[in-house]
Amino acid sequence: MLSLSKLAVLGLGLISQASAVILQNGQVRETNFPNTRLDSFSPSSYRTYPANASEISYKGRWDSKYVSWWSAPGIKFGYTGQTVAITFGNLTTDRVLVGYRIGGLDWIFTNITAGATHLLVSPETPGSSLTGPINPWTFELRVSNWAYGIQIDSVHVAKGEKLIKIPDHGRRIEVIGDSLSAGMYTTYEGLTSWAYGLGAGLGNTEYSVTGYPGICAADQDCWGNPRGQVHQWFYTSDTSWRASQIWGDNPEPWDFSKQPAADIVVINIGTNDHNQHNNVSTEAYIDALGKIIQGVHGKWPKAQVIVMSLWLGFYQQGNTYLPNAPEGWVKEIQDLVKYFNSDKYLSQPVIYDGVTKKSTKLRVKRKESPFVHWFNTKGILQHNDIGPQWHPTDVGAIKVASHLQQFIRIKFGWELEATGPEVWHETLYWNDESGY
Ligand SMILES: *[C@@H]1O[C@H](CO)[C@@H](O)[C@H](O)[C@H]1NC(C)=O
Ligand SMILES: *[C@@H]1O[C@H](CO)[C@@H](O)[C@H](O)[C@H]1NC(C)=O
Ligand SMILES: *[C@@H]1O[C@H](CO)[C@@H](O)[C@H](O)[C@H]1NC(C)=O
Ligand SMILES: *[C@@H]1O[C@H](CO)[C@@H](O)[C@H](O)[C@H]1NC(C)=O
Repeated sequence: MLSLSKLAVLGLGLISQASAVILQNGQVRETNFPNTRLDSFSPSSYRTYPANASEISYKGRWDSKYVSWWSAPGIKFGYTGQTVAITFGNLTTDRVLVGYRIGGLDWIFTNITAGATHLLVSPETPGSSLTGPINPWTFELRVSNWAYGIQIDSVHVAKGEKLIKIPDHGRRIEVIGDSLSAGMYTTYEGLTSWAYGLGAGLGNTEYSVTGYPGICAADQDCWGNPRGQVHQWFYTSDTSWRASQIWGDNPEPWDFSKQPAADIVVINIGTNDHNQHNNVSTEAYIDALGKIIQGVHGKWPKAQVIVMSLWLGFYQQGNTYLPNAPEGWVKEIQDLVKYFNSDKYLSQPVIYDGVTKKSTKLRVKRKESPFVHWFNTKGILQHNDIGPQWHPTDVGAIKVASHLQQFIRIKFGWELEATGPEVWHETLYWNDESGY
């Protein structure tokens, strides 16, 4: 039986060395990650672009040193020729796993060496010579682990070739959360989380996942995370040990003008607050969640906010399985959503700035429109959608993402525009006989 203290492991995103195995029903999955590191790199055969080249689009949160943070941050650009190499800075986590792909083809995973140059696309790379229908050729790379990161030093194409800026998609989603959103314990972590699957699965959508394992909404130490999301969401870097090494006590506030406003913000935070180990009171949690919503409203006044109900896993009871009770502040979260949609709030909305810690009354000429929605996760996951490490499996993540996609389609009219490109890597499970 899953006791609340067992959930302790939820948060322990402690730094372990970058090596792990992927298990499928308890069996080891074979992985053959190509070695892309160049032993020697001769700049004269390439055309080099610096990290700040306007042709390179940065996805998710990156700091002024071009170091990536949070879950599934990435880069994207178009290119000519059949060669893409990247030099990674020394602030890269050594041997970090990244996924990259050409166009809408499958993700290729490879480990990155800090300070090295990696040849990621060459004429031998599967698909690198296929012309169209995606033109120009696009290259996208994302970091798979939520605690590790990369630093972009420079990008190289073959001599005489060039990078091309790819315009952003027209829709944007932000997911604010903890390990459940960050992809902890799914096979490819951030690249198999429901948060990534939601953004990538909607298609034609930019997404940013500000989730970190163990973090609370409330601004206090939870499982070694020094700050809560009510503070950290307003900063570029996350609450990792890596961030404390690189930025110490002076992390960069996130410059919200770097990227257009999110249209939809999905919030799934509170599982760590709810854990008795962290001793967060209901009042402190609701206060923090409320301020996060006020913060989103202040930064992105037109964003629609979806607050997800929390799920806490299952236990076996006799001959079936039951959810861990209580499910986690269901009534309190619903009451908070009601408050935000009430005349009391909408006629005098309050915004919150996590950096200055100021709450300010918005001067509204007309009443604001309701913008906070409750998404009930009850009944989406069953006991075997949660892995032995108390987090959604790949299948669990796919279920959460799929339900959210339909919720968003029905509620906001966003059609599902991903119609083919790979989203979930290595989830092609099937039976090869019809008569078995
Ligand atoms: C690459 O990273 C994976 C995942 O952490 C690890 O299992 C593998 O051993 C690494 N491979 C190399 C060549 O370092
Ligand atoms: C990139 O940085 C260099 C050196 O700081 C600067 O000279 C250049 O103008 C920058 N380029 C862009 C596109 O910002
Ligand atoms: C990494 O550090 C080494 C030694 O300090 C230096 O020679 C090298 O140029 C650096 N590489 C990058 C990509 O910053
Ligand atoms: C938990 O919080 C309450 C109220 O803030 C406090 O009185 C109590 O000492 C705390 N317990 C622990 C174990 O930190």
